[in-house]
Amino acid sequence: MTIFVTGGAGYIGSHTIVELLENGQQVVVLDNLSNSSKEALRRVEVITSKSVTFYQGDVLDPIILNKIFSEHDITSVIHFAGLKSVGESVVQPLRYYENNVTGTVVLCQAMAKANVKNLVFSSSATVYGDPASLPILESFPTDTTNPYGQSKLMVEHVLTDLAASDSSWNIAVLRYFNPVGAHASGTIGEDPNDIPNNLMPFIAQVAVGKRDKLNVFGSDYDTHDGTGVRDYIHVVDLAIGHLKALDKLATNPGLVTYNIGTGVGYSVLDMVKAFEKACGKSIAYQIVDRRPGDIAACYANPKKAKSELGWAAIHTIDDMAQSSWLWQSNNPNGYEG
Ligand code: NAD
Ligand code: WQD
Repeated sequence: MTIFVTGGAGYIGSHTIVELLENGQQVVVLDNLSNSSKEALRRVEVITSKSVTFYQGDVLDPIILNKIFSEHDITSVIHFAGLKSVGESVVQPLRYYENNVTGTVVLCQAMAKANVKNLVFSSSATVYGDPASLPILESFPTDTTNPYGQSKLMVEHVLTDLAASDSSWNIAVLRYFNPVGAHASGTIGEDPNDIPNNLMPFIAQVAVGKRDKLNVFGSDYDTHDGTGVRDYIHVVDLAIGHLKALDKLATNPGLVTYNIGTGVGYSVLDMVKAFEKACGKSIAYQIVDRRPGDIAACYANPKKAKSELGWAAIHTIDDMAQSSWLWQSNNPNGYEG
């Protein structure tokens, strides 16, 4: 089986490719390297002792897509390629809609042309907005507050209409909660281009001495310690979820949607403590104002993925912190180092 992975040089893509290769699949990657490095794929090859076929190009380009589908016997596509910064999406909404929404439409057109109709799509828990209750079920109403989230929700609508129009499409929409951690080798991990927006890479950069201190955005939320609570999911568990989703597509389910989370919420300070334990240092932090747009708490009910995919997260918060620290301490400058 050959799996076509868009955005495969990125954080989640590279970890998923390791699992695919170790599971005996062939992998073809398309990535424009706008937020990643080819070095990640080289390291994936070292980890697995297997090779990846790489095309540098854009999902917005139908010519390269048609070429890939004609040159390989592709059975399924995992579509990671997308822009993911909430703040940037507010400033550059058209770029986000073009890349994330148009990019998916162009990809699906090329898939239809090649008669490849199995797709796993990277959606996000951001589509739930500020949920009325917790834990979050897939059936909860969707409601987004920023262009990034809107782009994910728009793609979900596009895919729903596509599956309704043609029953030969099989599509798994995976709504990731908060992916963190790194491969146990410490050789691949999250490598933000700039100042990290997300909590775990920021903590890791404080631990390694690249940043002075963490700003904790708010300590007056209605949570166990006042700081924001999220469902952090180890990236290797998340990666394995994609393999389970591919198995599901083989049963012709039409469009299916799953929460990919642990079901457990941890606060910002819980994550700081876990990281301190992993790295053996204290993490300097200060409490600052809430970040606009943040919600108090968000965690999944992941039972649907367990019963229908046979998937559940197994890594603990300590695994998340330890692997993140191993990656960061071995690669203080990410792939550039
Ligand atoms: P990432 O930025 O590390 O990976 C995305 C990859 O896609 C990068 O390698 C980038 O170069 C590539 N890419 C972007 N636009 C492209 C285009 N037009 N053509 C070809 N390649 C392109 O991000 P990630 O964390 O690995 O996220 C993967 C997917 O999961 C994204 O769609 C993201 O929105 C989604 N997601 C991420 C998170 C998270 O917190 N990391 C949470 C929920 C959903
Ligand atoms: C987690 C918690 C912050 C940074 C975002 C996107 C979401 C998804 C995952 C793609 C919150 C707090 C953070 C910091 C802090 N991405 N925090 N100081 O906001 O849950 O989700 O990434 O789909 O769409 O919105 O993740 O890691 O930014 O924040 O105190 O420097 O950490 O307030 O409580 P978030 P995050």
